[in-house]
Amino acid sequence: MNKRIFSMNYYLAPMMGYTDCYFRSLIENIYGNRVLTFSEMIVDKAIIHNEIKTISKHFLEKNKSAIQIAGSDPQEIKRTINILNRIDILKHVNFNLGCPSSRVQENMLGLALTQNYDLVKKCLFELINYKYEVSVKCRLGLGMNEDKNYIFSYLNLFNEIGIKKVFIHCRNGVLNLDTKKNRTIPKINYDLFTECTKKFPEMELIPNGEVNNLETFNFFKSKNINQFMIGRQFSKDTFFLERLKLEEIENKTPLIMNSIKDLDNYKYLNINLLKKSLFTALNNMTNSKKIKKDLSIIDNTKDLLNYFERSHIWS
Ligand SMILES: Cc1cc2nc3c(=O)[nH]c(=O)nc-3n(C[C@H](O)[C@H](O)[C@H](O)COP(=O)(O)O)c2cc1C
Repeated sequence: MNKRIFSMNYYLAPMMGYTDCYFRSLIENIYGNRVLTFSEMIVDKAIIHNEIKTISKHFLEKNKSAIQIAGSDPQEIKRTINILNRIDILKHVNFNLGCPSSRVQENMLGLALTQNYDLVKKCLFELINYKYEVSVKCRLGLGMNEDKNYIFSYLNLFNEIGIKKVFIHCRNGVLNLDTKKNRTIPKINYDLFTECTKKFPEMELIPNGEVNNLETFNFFKSKNINQFMIGRQFSKDTFFLERLKLEEIENKTPLIMNSIKDLDNYKYLNINLLKKSLFTALNNMTNSKKIKKDLSIIDNTKDLLNYFERSHIWS
């Protein structure tokens, strides 16, 4: 049985190109309900104009993930929420207010939308008509300089509207700076995050941004924070929580095999994307090169399952 070592909850951060249903299935099978996963950002228009394909491509029948959406037109958000209210496999909508990418910025979505406080408010008023859980993901500030007023006024808005769960990427977002630099150049500021938790004790604020080492976990633990959103580290080293001795994962092979079996009826199955997600579970293993080479020539799920069953990778 897999054991909890500390009572902590984790969230797999939404990541375009990574948190597709293959990777989410892998994480969900490995960590069970210790990690809630988030889809890649999905623009509301895609749901409005191509509902069935968008949902069935991003979510498996046995979906456990939250959907992350982006939008900036309150009427479109209203239509999107009406659609999502009819989709039973979804139980949590997260709204993106932090993405700085230029395409997102051009459409006034994500971080760019936060330049317009009143429009954010109108969008959130539509969002809260979702019948299950609603949360927001945002940055700690806009631009290079620390601006407590930005995050305090937004947290105040979320709180008043009734959105209590907020994932905060603990660094500012900068418009007109590319996405990669936006994840490295603005400095991480966990102190301002903890200040937010003190100012808004009635809210559930979850830190994100380089939460990937014991020192950071211990810092947050000392502040009574025990929920974390983690992105890149899960995709670099799927088992890092075990390596840090924060979680224990036994019987890895059947868990990995279950993540493949969960894709059985998946209409959009792409074996290369499936292997890409499996490779993350093999990173940092001494013989990972050889295993990846073996896997690279496999082109169907049945042979993948046979390979994992036969090769005793984690025995
Ligand atoms: C490749 C990539 C794609 C991302 N796509 C999204 C996205 O679709 N929505 C979002 O809110 N954040 C996105 N992010 C930001 C992550 O959710 C997270 O906030 C960021 O990586 C910092 O967390 P980390 O240091 O744990 O990776 C993305 C990050 C990466 C690396």
